Amino acid sequence: MHPTVSSTPVTREEFRATLGRFTTGVVAVTALRNSDSAPVGLAVNSFTSVSLDPALVLFCIARTSTSWPQVRTAGRFCVNILGESQREVSTRLATSGDDKFHGVRWTTTPAGTPVLEGAIGWLECSVEAEYPAGDHEVIISRVHRLSSREDGAPLVFYRGSYERLAA
Ligand SMILES: Cc1cc2nc3c(=O)[nH]c(=O)nc-3n(C[C@H](O)[C@H](O)[C@H](O)COP(=O)(O)O)c2cc1C
Repeated sequence: MHPTVSSTPVTREEFRATLGRFTTGVVAVTALRNSDSAPVGLAVNSFTSVSLDPALVLFCIARTSTSWPQVRTAGRFCVNILGESQREVSTRLATSGDDKFHGVRWTTTPAGTPVLEGAIGWLECSVEAEYPAGDHEVIISRVHRLSSREDGAPLVFYRGSYERLAA
């Protein structure tokens, strides 16, 4: 097998193909919209922990996202760590449109942010800092509360597809 050798500028295809080899989990960043308390959100895999004290996490959001500005304006939001049963929810939350939450069951964190049924963990957050980065923004978030399930396997994303952890 010959490794792909590329020279700059990096093409979209090369970037996706190579970064797709980096396996991630998937989170759903959700909130209740200020105007009508409807749930809003999007699927994100650019998520990672940053700092324990203070508790900070980060994710990167495309400037084209229509859901993020609504989540941002809500103030408090929820980072749901998706479980292996949530492929369909992830696909829905990754598709722009008004009925992302149709048929999706959710409860709320103490501050009232949406926790999706089947999530294996959640973090209640607010924006701590934002940094422009090319066609995305890096969002540093402060974690106010969090919880996780003892059981439950994660949803895994690899090379553009959903996978399960091998048993
Ligand atoms: C597995 C997966 C991971 C994704 N990760 C991100 C991400 O880290 N940042 C981002 O901006 N979009 C990400 N997306 C795409 C957004 O979910 C999608 O563009 C967004 O939901 C568009 O809807 P909106 O216009 O309602 O925001 C991801 C999509 C999938 C399927």
